[in-house]
Amino acid sequence: MKKLIQNRREFLGTAAMGAAMVPLVQACGFGASASPILESKLDILRANGVQDPNCEWCGARDVPDDVRWKTRLHRDGDAGERMLIEGTVFKPDGKTPARDILIYFYHTDTEGLYGRKGEHRHGRYRGWMLTGEDGKFGFYTIKPSPYPNRGGPAHVHMTVTGLERKEDWADTIFFKDDPLLNDRNYSAKKGGFKNVIELKEDSEGILRGTRNLRLWEV
Ligand SMILES: [Fe+2]
Repeated sequence: MKKLIQNRREFLGTAAMGAAMVPLVQACGFGASASPILESKLDILRANGVQDPNCEWCGARDVPDDVRWKTRLHRDGDAGERMLIEGTVFKPDGKTPARDILIYFYHTDTEGLYGRKGEHRHGRYRGWMLTGEDGKFGFYTIKPSPYPNRGGPAHVHMTVTGLERKEDWADTIFFKDDPLLNDRNYSAKKGGFKNVIELKEDSEGILRGTRNLRLWEV
């Protein structure tokens, strides 16, 4: 906790200094880079990510400088069904949007696999989103497949990290039409709302779903 408070103070001081520097940075033509304020936030978020190098599920510490509230994981030509999942992160009251929440997420490919040889252990389909004032996030990707042994339904893993909260799991996303789904997959412990979501195909053939998150007390 002491570390978090220290980080917060450092952040506020740096943020104030960063705000004064923004016009200078823009005037110098570096507008494409992350602002000093964003960089300061990212430093705190990275510090609040799990640092254990053997951690199998975390990823906040690797957040890139160009993180935004919405991202796209798949490349043109990737096999698989196109999917868009959108949502809003709310504070524990379930109503107030939560800003500056970093979401890290990853899922299997169309063969149900994560990292191949030479890849990160989570494979190609991993990404980050950082909420703004409205708490919104969204990601384009392909629909994952169940593990090759079909030991469970297809899913998307997510972690949540904040300026004053350590990286932690949110309930995994599952898909309502999955024949491998069972009662144990439904949960509202970390994230509230529905973690088993319904996908509907839009006019462009993209499977769309909504996953809202309610932050839990820490
Ligand atoms: Fe998994």
